[in-house]
Amino acid sequence: MRYSGKIVLVTGARRGVGRLLAEHFLREGAQVIGFSRHADDLSVKGYTPIAVELGDAESVVRGFNQVRKTFGRVDIVVNNAAVLTSQYSMIMPPAAALGMLETNLFGTFMVSREAAKLMRKGKWGRIINIGSMAASLEPIGDSIYAATKAAVATLANVMAKEFAPLNITCNTLGITAIETDMLGQLPRDKVDAVVAGLPMPRYATADDILNVVDFFASERSSYVTAQTVFLGGVN
Ligand SMILES: NC(=O)c1ccc[n+]([C@@H]2O[C@H](COP(=O)([O-])OP(=O)(O)OC[C@H]3O[C@@H](n4cnc5c(N)ncnc54)[C@H](OP(=O)(O)O)[C@@H]3O)[C@@H](O)[C@H]2O)c1
Repeated sequence: MRYSGKIVLVTGARRGVGRLLAEHFLREGAQVIGFSRHADDLSVKGYTPIAVELGDAESVVRGFNQVRKTFGRVDIVVNNAAVLTSQYSMIMPPAAALGMLETNLFGTFMVSREAAKLMRKGKWGRIINIGSMAASLEPIGDSIYAATKAAVATLANVMAKEFAPLNITCNTLGITAIETDMLGQLPRDKVDAVVAGLPMPRYATADDILNVVDFFASERSSYVTAQTVFLGGVN
């Protein structure tokens, strides 16, 4: 029960990586808040789903008002939610490009700063951004997506400096491919080819991700901030 007594917020907790993170924190004794766009069907003790549109500043602030009223604080935040449209830049629909900037980058910014406002009272916090191998591999078709994933690491690095006096750490985990709805949007042969080219040529497992999230979230990692860890040998 390593997270007993902790309040953990996971964005995009309704599906995919976010759901496996939420379930992990719940198993380990945390009270978990899940921000997602749609109504969440997970109804278990200790889980509080809140509908939030991350691209909308007011919606994020409303979500945090609810967190403040219900819990009074938050200890660990995982900025996991993101959207992906993979398309050559010249034919990428502008609305899709904007959608990635709004959710992946602006949403991460808003959640991190609102969380830090709550964390500063207790002078303790962990902010963990879920990045992507795309930030390093810079694949064709992913100009905006890869840029947003590089940007969330930069965001964490700057916030790490701003929040260091408050004992709040900010780090990024760049994950490789794992079976989710987002992955299903991409042609499987393209993803297989990318995975085959990794130094460790396999898909990520849930445990690969949870291991690094636990490391960043740990009490013992209080001197670890502004770091990006990539899975699978990506750098
Ligand atoms: N899967 C991979 O292979 C892979 C590889 C590298 C990096 N990643 C990263 O891993 C993270 C999780 O990806 P995933 O594959 O689990 O994605 P996913 O299956 O598509 O799930 C995305 C989650 O984010 C939420 N979300 C999206 N836009 C939102 C918005 N504007 N406001 C609020 N919530 C929003 C969704 O909410 P709803 O459920 O309500 O729609 C959903 O719960 C992302 O940061 C992604 O970039 C994934």
